[in-house]
Amino acid sequence: MSLVERIGLRALRCLDPETAHGLALDLLRAGLAGGGGPVTSPRLTTDLAGITLPNPIGIAAGFDKNAHAVPEVLRTGVGFTEIGAVTPRPQYGNLKPRLFRLSEDLAVINRFGFNNDGAYAIHRNLTRRAPRGIVGVNLGANKQTEDRAEDYVAVLERFHAHVAFATINVSSPNTEKLRDLQGKAALDALLGRVLEARDRLGPLPIFLKIAPDLSAGEVSDIAGVARARGVDGIVATNTTLSREGLRSEHARQAGGLSGAPLREKAIEILRQLYRATDGSIPLIGVGGIASAQDAYARVKAGASAVQLYTALVFEGVSLGAHIASGLDQLLERDGFGSVAAAVGTEA
Ligand code: FNR
Repeated sequence: MSLVERIGLRALRCLDPETAHGLALDLLRAGLAGGGGPVTSPRLTTDLAGITLPNPIGIAAGFDKNAHAVPEVLRTGVGFTEIGAVTPRPQYGNLKPRLFRLSEDLAVINRFGFNNDGAYAIHRNLTRRAPRGIVGVNLGANKQTEDRAEDYVAVLERFHAHVAFATINVSSPNTEKLRDLQGKAALDALLGRVLEARDRLGPLPIFLKIAPDLSAGEVSDIAGVARARGVDGIVATNTTLSREGLRSEHARQAGGLSGAPLREKAIEILRQLYRATDGSIPLIGVGGIASAQDAYARVKAGASAVQLYTALVFEGVSLGAHIASGLDQLLERDGFGSVAAAVGTEA
């Protein structure tokens, strides 16, 4: 981390977390983070469901929900980014405060509830500045919507021509009953509708993002349905409802917990998924990744790519580039010629 980044992070930590995050995105957009584009090498260049990533390190959904700073995020060195969650109509989300920093635990709790500017405005933000690089969209549903599949399809229709992938998010804990869509029958029906829309619109990888708070049986059911329906990738995991082992004063806040305390849970779900799918569906590992070693462990557990969010709050946006180059060195040290060669070697 540069001195400027260190000072900037310290200053941001004096503000309330939501204000700090908005300001960080403004500073990023103003070009303060700099960066020369994705870190890459022949070893890091990775195929993810037919998408060629310059490196397998991405920014997770929720970091730049409204596509405010997409070109600048991509310039920090990561291989891809995911905007959203986007819902068809704009939505305020839950009342503030709704984001809490748990510094002692290197974690965050959020109960945003899909606050976002809505599909129309976010699509305009994205296309106005036509970023070069890999951008996906996280599909969400409005709080009041009865037919959630219809919302996912509406957002997919708007973004289809302008993104490299779309992620069906059925795992945010802050929208009531959303996680129920992970149940076998509900998931099958939902995937059927979204994939049918995708087939009508034209080729585009569709990923499914799941929660960490699932039993082995539930993970196996999800893997079975995803495989039968032909989902192109599974993102594991979203935030957790668990509060195990926390020390910070905000530990009892309601919402989804992310960051270091999620690491072990997320990697275990990933391993289970890899085994349940026989490595046949590309997996994207997310949850508590904060170093090149973490990213490498996720690859060996079965991930073809990884994503970051909470560690950026504590380490700054240059972390993605550091992790990418560190991963390259770890692969070289262990004699792997590519990321793909290391995927699942310790699942
Ligand atoms: C998130 N995350 C998230 N995920 C998603 O699919 N849609 C979303 O809108 C959001 N929004 C969101 C907001 C905030 C403030 C946080 C901290 C997280 C979850 C995120 O993408 C990721 O799955 C988890 O945070 C776990 O990764 P980290 O943060 O431990 O690296």
